[in-house]
Amino acid sequence: MCGIAGYVGPKNAVDVVFDQLKRLEYRGYDSAGIAYLQDDKIAVTKRAGKLSELGKVLFESPKQAELAIAHSRWATHGGPTDENAHPHYDQYERVAIIHNGIIENYLELKEHLIAKGHKFKSQTDTEVAAHVIGEEYANGVSLEEAVRLSAKRLRGAFALVVMSNTEKDKIVCTRNASPLVLGMGVGENLLASDIPALLPYTREVVIVEEHVVAVLTREGISLIDAEGRSLPVKTTHIDWDIASAERGGFEHFMLKEVHEQPQVMRQVVAGRIDEKSKIRLEGIFGENVWNEIDRVNIIACGTAYHAGLMGKHFFESVLRLPTDVYYSSEFRYGDPVLSPKSLAIFVSQSGETADTLAALKLCKDRRIRTLGIVNVIGSSIARECDRTIFTQAGPEISVASTKAYTAQVMVFALLGLYIAQVQEVPGVKVEEWADELLQMDGFAEQCLKLEDEIVTLAGEIKDMPLCFFLGRGADAFVAAEGALKLKEIAYIPTQEYPAGEMKHGPLALITKDVVSIFGATDPRIREKVVSNMKEVQARSGKVIAIVTEDDTLTEQAADHVVRIPKTKFEFLNALLAIVPLQLLSYHIARLNGCEIDQPRNLAKSVTVE
Ligand code: AGP
Repeated sequence: MCGIAGYVGPKNAVDVVFDQLKRLEYRGYDSAGIAYLQDDKIAVTKRAGKLSELGKVLFESPKQAELAIAHSRWATHGGPTDENAHPHYDQYERVAIIHNGIIENYLELKEHLIAKGHKFKSQTDTEVAAHVIGEEYANGVSLEEAVRLSAKRLRGAFALVVMSNTEKDKIVCTRNASPLVLGMGVGENLLASDIPALLPYTREVVIVEEHVVAVLTREGISLIDAEGRSLPVKTTHIDWDIASAERGGFEHFMLKEVHEQPQVMRQVVAGRIDEKSKIRLEGIFGENVWNEIDRVNIIACGTAYHAGLMGKHFFESVLRLPTDVYYSSEFRYGDPVLSPKSLAIFVSQSGETADTLAALKLCKDRRIRTLGIVNVIGSSIARECDRTIFTQAGPEISVASTKAYTAQVMVFALLGLYIAQVQEVPGVKVEEWADELLQMDGFAEQCLKLEDEIVTLAGEIKDMPLCFFLGRGADAFVAAEGALKLKEIAYIPTQEYPAGEMKHGPLALITKDVVSIFGATDPRIREKVVSNMKEVQARSGKVIAIVTEDDTLTEQAADHVVRIPKTKFEFLNALLAIVPLQLLSYHIARLNGCEIDQPRNLAKSVTVE
């Protein structure tokens, strides 16, 4: 995800925004640029590569400006080149914008604008947004009105920051799902995609709510809603130090990223579910392709593989679409049997996992259609796949993947519903599913409220010698992800298993010190899972159950019951169960003094075999 910065005030704005970009470098990027007012023109300097490349050109001669915006970019639409770097002008060079996120309907808008004679210099969705704003601005409205009207025409997750060479005293910005925060200073005001870029200048932060338009001048900050009505400006005092600011005030990136999941769930669906609860996935295969596909092969590693298991569950249980899931390392050497009408889906947070990339190349050699579900925009897997759906989870810093997992599973649900819509699969209530997906952020918020209970539970079981993660159906797939989390950050031996299989061997490992965590979120099979719990309890094993709040069966068979919200669909219940499991692994690791964000022997992106 990109870094965004902006300043208006008495200091040298170019120096300030360049410094802000440096404080956002940890987010990763592949090009950077700055726009600032010079006489009556907007000067733009931008370069592919690191900030040092931009600095070499920018500071060849002294710059003086009282207003500037700046951007560090993850390549999205179009590679990391000077032309594709932000800021981008509108068609009249009266406006310059920077943007973070993805504008899903940019192709449709671009065709419309080209038909009206617009010319584009880059391949980016951002330049299209700039022309849309330029078009609205040419009608003689204020800059904030042009931005407000333009935002209504854009679909997707985005944060937009705009300046002009006519209203030279203001910066205008707005957001839909992508992060954007404002800093209120004395005689100066700032904006950024993340709080660390504000703290050296001010600790008074204004959180921009979705669809709100903010206007920053030297004198102050004003806010208007999507209908143009003024809103009160509320500031929050941030007392974090810089290091903890990068962690959002949390002790570790992992905990920050677990708590970001409601926001991520909003970002995943932003622009992808329309007002009629229809699924809108731009830029993937045409309907004819979806009607032809006879099988899906999902290929991934680690957590992404576990997300793929959930994808299989959705495709087969909801769509009746045959689906296989492969470990990338097995697939690439396994000489797989692939139907020419199959679709290969590659799931990867980093988009750089060597085994997954190699498996992708194998499929391309066999001329199999390839679709990526990837978080890091501009990554190798995203570029190599025929089409890619971005999870829009934002940078995931902790080695242990959490928010990327939930985002990947949500994308599988969106994709499955999109296919159901196109194929008109009988019995699939797409609108009902879509409405429930739009509620997932609230359900996840409720799961996060279990943290105090989870901390107590972690204290009780943190010294266990072995932990089973068990379940049936989708709960068994979430169990696999829960087991990996505890393994990789608390270094506790874990074993995930279908609950019904315990009696075929693993039950031999049960002793009074061994803990078994059961996912029992599907009321249809809960009785069977309760029987499995009793098998463990009968052998003195400790049982923890994760159930939906309506459950009345598990008290009798569990030493501790964790209750999560009940959604309309068992698939989503199971997904929510990962939140308490993530928290449990985190707090056990924390209480045991483990490293957490950089676990021993592991890397965030395994770019070697
Ligand atoms: C999960 O917590 C680990 N970080 C690891 O299993 C990871 O999911 C795996 O290496 C795949 O990475 P990717 O999603 O970037 O391809």
